[in-house]
Amino acid sequence: MDEIRIAGGKPLSGTVSVQGSKNAALPMMAASLLHRGVSVLKGCPKIADVFCMESILKELGAVTWWEGHDLYMDCTHGDGKSIPCVFTGKMRSSVILLGALLGRCGSGCLGYPGGCVIGQRPIDLHLYALRKLGAEIAEEPFFISASCSGLTGAEITFPHKSVGATEQGILGAVLAKGETCLENCAREPEIQWLCRYLRGMGADIRGDGGDCIYIKGVKELRGGEMEVPPDRIVAGTYLCACAATRGKIVLENYPDGELDAFLKVYGKMGGQYKAKSGKLIADGSGVGYPIPFLETEVYPGFPTDLQSPLLAVLATIPGKSCIRETIFEARFKAAAEINRMGAGITVEGNDAWIQGGSSLHGSTVYAEELRGGAALVIAALAARGETVVRGYSYICRGYEHICEDLTALGGVIMKDTGTNFNEKKQSTNSIAQ
Ligand code: UD1
Repeated sequence: MDEIRIAGGKPLSGTVSVQGSKNAALPMMAASLLHRGVSVLKGCPKIADVFCMESILKELGAVTWWEGHDLYMDCTHGDGKSIPCVFTGKMRSSVILLGALLGRCGSGCLGYPGGCVIGQRPIDLHLYALRKLGAEIAEEPFFISASCSGLTGAEITFPHKSVGATEQGILGAVLAKGETCLENCAREPEIQWLCRYLRGMGADIRGDGGDCIYIKGVKELRGGEMEVPPDRIVAGTYLCACAATRGKIVLENYPDGELDAFLKVYGKMGGQYKAKSGKLIADGSGVGYPIPFLETEVYPGFPTDLQSPLLAVLATIPGKSCIRETIFEARFKAAAEINRMGAGITVEGNDAWIQGGSSLHGSTVYAEELRGGAALVIAALAARGETVVRGYSYICRGYEHICEDLTALGGVIMKDTGTNFNEKKQSTNSIAQ
């Protein structure tokens, strides 16, 4: 069954290690297609979106295999040019393969990308960048086809910042003839990780992490090899679970320096934290102060991916908080579900007003997308009684072992229903008494 059960009301405590980053791994997998040979991503998360990208590479002719958490991709024969919508419809990131296909084969055809339904999510900036590099692109009703007689470097100014479109521009430019200057680029850490990976493959890229990225096209790339960095959104999710339950946890393999905007808010809510030799020690026992106003922003601002998890935390804090979502138009889907647990969240356009403090209670709730689903898990851990979270498969798109990790932190959370869960609940209760 596509659901999990959670018996909440217990502060989390203990140590877990943060998995590899989904948003870093996916573009690196696309980049691997630019080398006709073997590349490897170490510590790659085994999550649904990574498996979907792996299936697409295989569909294109690549051979892939896992050794533990190391993903090997042999793209010697990955010369397929067409990616059916049965794959692309599952995942937004599939669209960045268009730049890689053009760079490798000079043409490509793919179904429109799917992914979490959190807003309109157009792909105009992706196509704008590739057209500037010389691609001819036809947007048909059910697929996009693109071709070029070799991409050529260009000056590309994005009208606004987009993580995916910046990655698309980079993937298209690394093997293009001549120099490319990408202006008004997104600065998210995942873009820098992609550039580090590509530099390791021999690409000539400068300026990533800033607004302008300069790329000198090279003739060919060698195989890539890199450790996938820790997932900053997973780390932030676990810190939210710690805050909502007023727990104390330690995160190993912590993405140091990538969560500063989030930690500032954590501190304002009354949480304490200390980073020490690759670990983050967090104490959520003092969390209790509302956040009068917060906006999601592009990096280094507060990440939109942690907006829903934070909503769940704020629902537990007495007083009035407000979050304004500025990146996606429909990203408050979790609010109505958290309200089923007794929260008082009102959504007006891009603003969510949270009247927190009334104690949450268990309920049956429905995840409709990845981070909203994680928010429901957080609210359930904080709620008294038992919650059933349906739509668990959405959560699996980005969290490799959320149930196991939260169980290791003392959460009572089960993937299967029935006896095991009741036994576990009883044994935890008797320990708690
Ligand atoms: C990436 C992340 C996602 C995160 C988001 C914002 C991955 C796999 N996903 O998504 O987790 O929530 O960044 O940090 O890395 N836009 C356009 N036209 C385009 C592209 C985007 O108008 O061609 C708009 C989007 O609708 C959105 C905004 O730009 O309003 C930012 O989106 P973008 O940064 O592109 O997000 P993704 O790359 O899809």
